[in-house]
Amino acid sequence: MWGGRFEGGPSAIMREINASIPFDKALWRQDIAASKAHVAMLGACGIVAGEDAVLISEGLDKVAAEYEANGVPEDWDLEDIHMTTESRLTELIGPAAGRLHTARSRNDQVATDFRLWVRDSIDQIDAGLEALQVALVTRAGEHADSIMPGFTHLQTAQPVTLGHHLMAYYEMISRDRSRFADARKRMNRSPLGSAALAGTGFPIDRKMTAQALGFDAPTDNSLDSVSDRDFALDYLMAASQCSLHLSRLAEEFIIWASQPFGFVALPDALSTGSSIMPQKKNPDAAELVRGHAGRITGCLTALMMTMKGLPLAYSKDMQDDKPPVFEAASLLALSVAAMTGMVADTRFRTDRMRGAAELGFATATDLADWLVREGNIPFREAHHITGAAVKLAETRGLALDQLPLSDLKEIDSRIDERVFKALSVEASVAARNSHGGTAPDQVRLRVAEARSALGLE
Ligand code: ARG
Repeated sequence: MWGGRFEGGPSAIMREINASIPFDKALWRQDIAASKAHVAMLGACGIVAGEDAVLISEGLDKVAAEYEANGVPEDWDLEDIHMTTESRLTELIGPAAGRLHTARSRNDQVATDFRLWVRDSIDQIDAGLEALQVALVTRAGEHADSIMPGFTHLQTAQPVTLGHHLMAYYEMISRDRSRFADARKRMNRSPLGSAALAGTGFPIDRKMTAQALGFDAPTDNSLDSVSDRDFALDYLMAASQCSLHLSRLAEEFIIWASQPFGFVALPDALSTGSSIMPQKKNPDAAELVRGHAGRITGCLTALMMTMKGLPLAYSKDMQDDKPPVFEAASLLALSVAAMTGMVADTRFRTDRMRGAAELGFATATDLADWLVREGNIPFREAHHITGAAVKLAETRGLALDQLPLSDLKEIDSRIDERVFKALSVEASVAARNSHGGTAPDQVRLRVAEARSALGLE
């Protein structure tokens, strides 16, 4: 395709290091679509004769049908998906194929194809994230009243509801979806027609190709257009943040499935056994989701480092943009699917959760709050009084609400029998009815809002 000024061919090493076809063949659908939009525009603008434009377009359909049926052939001499397709087109329709590359370069071609691919990938991942949200709100609705310990520092802090805990992840995934949507909106401009770097002397219509490919408008600077990979970085940033959320959710399931916790029985379908210890049921899927977050953020770092310090405009380093994006996309899709299954099919052992919520003096804050409310005691003083009660209960081996009233009165005479109502875990969660709080009523409200946002009712 470019041999005109060369005497010798490339060495074996050159061919190998240069070839991107092993991975960029994944762009074939986008490459065909962009070429069809380009040639239709060349025909409409009179840059290529109408019959040649039709011939090329039909030829591209034939190439696409071959790829669909047999896969994309991998010939290193043809370097990449763009030359592979043009070469096959030439075999199929003859010299007219040579007119397709008028007023375009592989630089704007690959920038266009890759944007289209990332855009498609965002649409797919968004559907996956929506399914995960559906699973989360469904289980949260079932467990709006189920009480579990809430933790800070992984130490029992205050009782919360399982529904509230699950809805925390719904919020994270909402932000992930909005980050992907932002990225999609920002990237949806067409670089096609920027040509090699400086634009073209042919009277092209960039708005026409932009529109045909579903872009909002053409980009406005040809140098930037062929060398910008912000769209891929935005995507990887959103993917990385999403993977961090999934890793946290995975980690919760791993902890909850451990024997000392025993909060969940994970689905068999997402667990594995041990070849030596017959009793084991391991949370491998969750562990791999946790691990994949490392690889996905590694992909982000890889592309950031590739782009660092590159002068305008295109440099071949940028061919390395695709593997990290492809890798992150497939790892993220798998992670989302695994967590969706886990949320949907895990059995929550609410008896174990509730039992744990009653340990660790989880309602100590409720005693302090009661002293503030009923005794008009400043919170700092109430905190101190409660600390003394916890200390006494701990030495006696009792829960707070098992301490006799006489002992509590000895700590502070303003305490009376009404306090016991405030010390149950039910009272504790019901009291936290502030906007966004853990009270079952709040959780039901938020689940209802989420369900309607998801179009579930
Ligand atoms: N395979 C190349 C890539 O992915 C296409 C662009 C090649 N451009 C060039 N000037 N050699 O970046």
